[in-house]
Amino acid sequence: MTPRVCEVLAGRIRSMVRGAVRCLMGEGDCVVLYEAAIRLGARDILEFGTGLGHSTVALAMGVCARGGRVITIDCWDPLVVGDGGKAARQEVSSRGLGHLVEFLTEEATAWDPRGRSFDMVFIDTSHDLGPTRAELAKVVPLLRPGGEVFLHDVLAEIYARQGDILPINRAALEFVWANPGWNYAVLHPEPGMLGIGRLWRCPG
Ligand SMILES: C[S@@+](CC[C@H](N)C(=O)[O-])C[C@H]1O[C@@H](n2cnc3c(N)ncnc32)[C@H](O)[C@@H]1O
Repeated sequence: MTPRVCEVLAGRIRSMVRGAVRCLMGEGDCVVLYEAAIRLGARDILEFGTGLGHSTVALAMGVCARGGRVITIDCWDPLVVGDGGKAARQEVSSRGLGHLVEFLTEEATAWDPRGRSFDMVFIDTSHDLGPTRAELAKVVPLLRPGGEVFLHDVLAEIYARQGDILPINRAALEFVWANPGWNYAVLHPEPGMLGIGRLWRCPG
């Protein structure tokens, strides 16, 4: 494929990602995930928090050109999306991406990766400090060299809990302080976005 053809295809997929979004994820969030998957050349992506499947669609679109795969895990909290993944599966299959996605019903931190490794991880679960810390500790050892972790809603004050104004942001900052060589940045390229945190290891 020529660079021009790649550019045109990427533009088309970008507009499909935008069209995919309805509620839990913003358009800008999905585009950030899609573009990160492309930038990383990701073949294997892990997602904690399938929800309605909007982020799953963006991630699957990000790996489809390379025939990659997305594993998405959710415990189906009845207070959030208690349908056992029905809507998410529909969202993904209606876009012809079903063959790229493995849906698992599990507590994120209880999941057994069985030696699998990933180029990219996206975490969008309880938004509480303790679970986010535990999820980060679980996924970082699963990253391949150059792999990155993304966290949803790092600047969302709606998740404020006693003493933790921005719990996900705090979990990310604590991780970076405790792990020299790691970087943290907040991506919010569009107004209204609640921030996607990016964690990556400095090269070398
Ligand atoms: C905000 S929604 C995810 C939205 C999703 N990214 C989307 O695009 O629709 C959060 C999801 O995380 C799930 N969840 C919460 N805690 C979890 C845990 N400990 N393990 C697995 N899933 C969890 C909930 O059941 C819910 O479906």
